Amino acid sequence: MKSKALLELLSDGQVHSGEFLAARLGVSRTAIWKQIRRAMDEGIEIATIRGRGYQLVSRVDLLDRDSVLQCLDPWRREALSLNVLDEVDSTNAEVIRQVAAGAGKMPVAIADCQTAGRGRRGRVWQSPRGENLYLSMGLTFHGGFGVLDGLSLVLGVAVANALEQLGVPEVGLKWPNDIFLPDGKLGGILVELQGELEEGVVQVIAGIGLNVHMSRAEGVDQPWSSLARTCPEIVWSRNQIAGAIIEAVLDAVPIFSDLGFGDFREPWQRRDIFMGKPLQARGGDVEGVGCGIDDNGNYQIRTADGIVPVRAGEISLRVMQ
Ligand code: BTN
Repeated sequence: MKSKALLELLSDGQVHSGEFLAARLGVSRTAIWKQIRRAMDEGIEIATIRGRGYQLVSRVDLLDRDSVLQCLDPWRREALSLNVLDEVDSTNAEVIRQVAAGAGKMPVAIADCQTAGRGRRGRVWQSPRGENLYLSMGLTFHGGFGVLDGLSLVLGVAVANALEQLGVPEVGLKWPNDIFLPDGKLGGILVELQGELEEGVVQVIAGIGLNVHMSRAEGVDQPWSSLARTCPEIVWSRNQIAGAIIEAVLDAVPIFSDLGFGDFREPWQRRDIFMGKPLQARGGDVEGVGCGIDDNGNYQIRTADGIVPVRAGEISLRVMQ
């Protein structure tokens, strides 16, 4: 965002003269006026107060690396290589590049907008500027790909924990890795795997997309929700949400690495939005009622012939009308 520095100066809500803003940013007053116009074209409300200057009317939720780091335990800040970007193709792709460059520390990327946001099953993830959270973390696991069973469910539990801690009630999880609120999908998790760099060492990119301020969604073909719409009484800060999610993921990952999926089964299950619902899977070959996940993170359907486990990636579950 070209006007980010200007918006930072205006973000205190006070009236600032064009002269003051120009001096602080080292540009002309005409350049300030152009930036104000551009920001207004992007939907940000700025009042021009005759003879006095400019005042931000709408609240802007700017991303800021230091503010994210402030939300983390001090000992964790050192372990991360946090990259806060204005624009990127995909934060997952960015983390993959950081891994390839051999970052050393755990790479984490957050962006204000994505030009090629990736969703599951090759879908596009709509990533409008300034509205939502686009966050990716590079996680390293030892023991080969086999140790990753259930990881995306663990990430869902971590995101739900973070949101509940921030005051969001009724966070639901839809197998395998969607975050739901009662009125629709709030976010999704895209787990991408990199080949084994060394024997048994696997690199996972955990990409989390969460609707924060979004009020319109073009090209989204299912009911959706956002934090600002569901909890308008909370002043949402993407920096704070990012910090809470990073903390929750960093809390969950060592438990999963050491002990596996077991400890996460109950916290996942109690948020299962399919529990007790009539479901269909494998293109209609399996029909029954949702009854949670097994120890490996497969979804279970209670059918007339008994419980049938459904593996992630194989099929999608549909609620029968
Ligand atoms: C889904 O399809 O539900 C998963 C969506 C995951 C979107 C996030 S946004 C941050 C990260 N970067 C991407 O390109 N995708 C993930």
